[in-house]
Formats: sequence, C-alpha cells, structure tokens
Amino acid sequence: MLDPSTERQPVTNSRIAMRARPTGPLQLQHFERHDEPLRDVLPDEVLVENEMLSVAAAARASMEMDTYRPQLVVGETIPSTVIGRVLRGPEDGPAVGSLVAGFAGWERYSIMRADQLRVLETPAPIEQYLSVLGQNGLTAYFGLTTVGRVAAGETVVVSGAAGGVGHLAGQIARSLGARVVGITSSDDKNTALIGRLGFDAAVNRRSSTFLDDLTRSVPSGIDVYFDNVAGPVTAGVLPRMNRHGRIVCSGATSAYQGGARGVTGFEDLALTAITRSLRLEGFLVGDFRAEWTEATSVLSAWRRSGRITSIETITTGLDSAPAALLELLDGQNLGQFGVALRA
Ligand SMILES: NC(=O)c1ccc[n+]([C@@H]2O[C@H](COP(=O)([O-])OP(=O)(O)OC[C@H]3O[C@@H](n4cnc5c(N)ncnc54)[C@H](OP(=O)(O)O)[C@@H]3O)[C@@H](O)[C@H]2O)c1
Repeated sequence: MLDPSTERQPVTNSRIAMRARPTGPLQLQHFERHDEPLRDVLPDEVLVENEMLSVAAAARASMEMDTYRPQLVVGETIPSTVIGRVLRGPEDGPAVGSLVAGFAGWERYSIMRADQLRVLETPAPIEQYLSVLGQNGLTAYFGLTTVGRVAAGETVVVSGAAGGVGHLAGQIARSLGARVVGITSSDDKNTALIGRLGFDAAVNRRSSTFLDDLTRSVPSGIDVYFDNVAGPVTAGVLPRMNRHGRIVCSGATSAYQGGARGVTGFEDLALTAITRSLRLEGFLVGDFRAEWTEATSVLSAWRRSGRITSIETITTGLDSAPAALLELLDGQNLGQFGVALRA
C-alpha cells in the first residue's frame, strides 16, 4: 500500500512475462518472473495494487498471434484482466481505495489510464468480477442476445461449455428459454453441467461416439451455436444446424496452441451457410462497451436470484498463473480460472 505519511509508491513490481514464444503446446519454460522497479505514474494514470488476475485461453493466443491485441513480444507481461485497489491517480479518476477492473497483465501492480478502468460498485465476491460480473459474463450475454438472438424454445449448443465463458453461456441460454446442450472433453464435467448448472444435455468431444451422441442430443437440430473452440468440434456441429440458424463466433481455442488448421474448409462452411441460410458472426465483448453497465445489472440480478451459478477456481500467488493456464488449455478447468495475489 501507499504510505499515507509520505505518499510513496511501491518501488518494486513483480510480473510474469513471456520468456520464449511457444509454437506448440504451452510449457512452463515459456514464462519467467521479473522483479523490477515500478516505473513512475504519469499525472493521468492510475496505480492499482492487484488482488486478482484472470487466467484466460486468449492469453495463449496472444503469445503466438495477433488477436484483439498485437502479438506479445518476448519479455512482455502476459495479458489479463486485473481486479485491484486504487493506490494513486488523478483527482477526477477513481477514488483511492476503490475496487476497479482493467486490462493489464499478470503483475502485482498495474498502471492504467483512468478511462480504461471500471469501478466495481456491485457488492459481490471479488472473483465473480472475473466471471459472471466481468468480461466472460458479458461475452456470454452479448453473444447470446445481440449476436445470437436466442429465442425461447430454440436449441442452443455451446462448445467449451464448462469453461469460463461457456458455463455462463449455457446458463444464460437457459434463462432465455432455450434448450441447451454443452460440449466438453470429460464425462465428469458433463455431469456437473447437467446436475449443477441445468444444462439439458452434454456430450464429450473426446468420445469415439461424439458425432452420434451430438445428433441424439439435438433431436430438433441446432438453432444457435455458441462457439468457443472452432476446429473439429465445429466441423461436427455444422451439419446439424437448422435453417436460419446462427453461429456465434466467440473464440477459437483449438487454434490457440498452434495446432492443425483448416479442418473446416471454408468451402464447406460457405456451402452449409448458403444452403441453410445461416448467419455466422464474430464479435468482441468490447464492441458492446456502451452497454456493459446495463448488462452487468441484468447478470447481477440473475446471479442473486440463483438463475446463474458462477463457478470460479482460484489459485494463490502470482507464480501459480502459468501452471493454471496450462491446466485450462488442457481442459482441466470447471468454470473460471483466476489467481489471487494474497492468501
Ligand atoms: N469474443 C470475445 O470478446 C471473447 C471474450 C472472452 C473470451 N473469448 C473466447 O472465449 C473462449 C473461452 O475462453 P475462456 O477463457 O473461458 O477459456 P475456457 O473455456 O475456460 O478454457 C478453454 C477450454 O477450451 C477447451 N479446449 C482446449 N483445447 C481445445 C481443443 N483443441 N479443441 C476443443 N476445445 C478445446 C477446453 O475445454 P474442454 O476440454 O472441456 O472442451 C478448455 O477448458 C476462448 O476462445 C476466448 O478467446 C472471447
């Protein structure tokens, strides 16, 4: 914390950076910790002491390719959402001591522009600002409402359904009155989706009977496909889409580890889209920034009323972040992964 008598800022920052660019499966050796002097805070900037960091699939993509942000450079901090307390900032910015969310990286302190921060005023457990009340909740919400335009009675399939975005997407689709089928890589996760989160059915993408199981789970076909993973899973979903169906392109996790591309040839996609009058739309949650406050109120009400259960798995300590990302990419997570910087 700032010493109020001297107003001195912390002098050392710790951060996890990319040590080497991965070109295949991610390993711990691709990361390294830096302990170094914290740079000065400029007059229009806010110094935040982070309490919680997100562990997200997109961080892996950034290590290898341009995404919503330019490809990471060796030595740069791994990008993430950060939740923390304001230590110092301009008078017209968030108050000292307030809880804020921003986009920075795996580090103890972040320096961000005041207009890039969201002040978190809804009383909720802090980890939920990474999930249902954060970017993943908003991604699921806008993907299903504005992009997917889900209507009651429709069938929605969600890939990566037990993940940070996916477990919320399935429940939001249920809240909108849809029948929901999840796709994951494990029977245990599927049991949790149905038993704890109210999914109507779930299928295992690693099963040898995946395509038959998928067909059986959607007897009326698929109206909306909320796609987090792309690749072979999506190739399996496409032939089961109904006329005038919508494919919501949220993410392409199967391509983030530098794996084989082009499993779904564009010609196949185009032919399916044409003959079934499909709409396929990609989006970034930032496209809807102007509506975040309103959507967060809706999600917050659904969370309080129990219509949505958010699941978070939190590890402790900055150094735990790389291993958590490896586990997430390996499909070992149920719900949102995050890192608490203090026990
Ligand atoms: N559009 C936006 O604005 C926006 C915002 C936030 C996130 N996203 C995207 O949303 C997606 C989910 O992000 P998240 O952080 O919540 O991650 P996550 O879903 O919690 O974790 C990734 C999951 O992807 C699945 N997966 C990994 N490798 C795969 C492969 N080769 N093929 C199929 N599935 C694979 C695994 O689940 P299973 O093994 O159980 O299948 C894994 O648990 C990401 O693609 C991310 O980029 C988009």
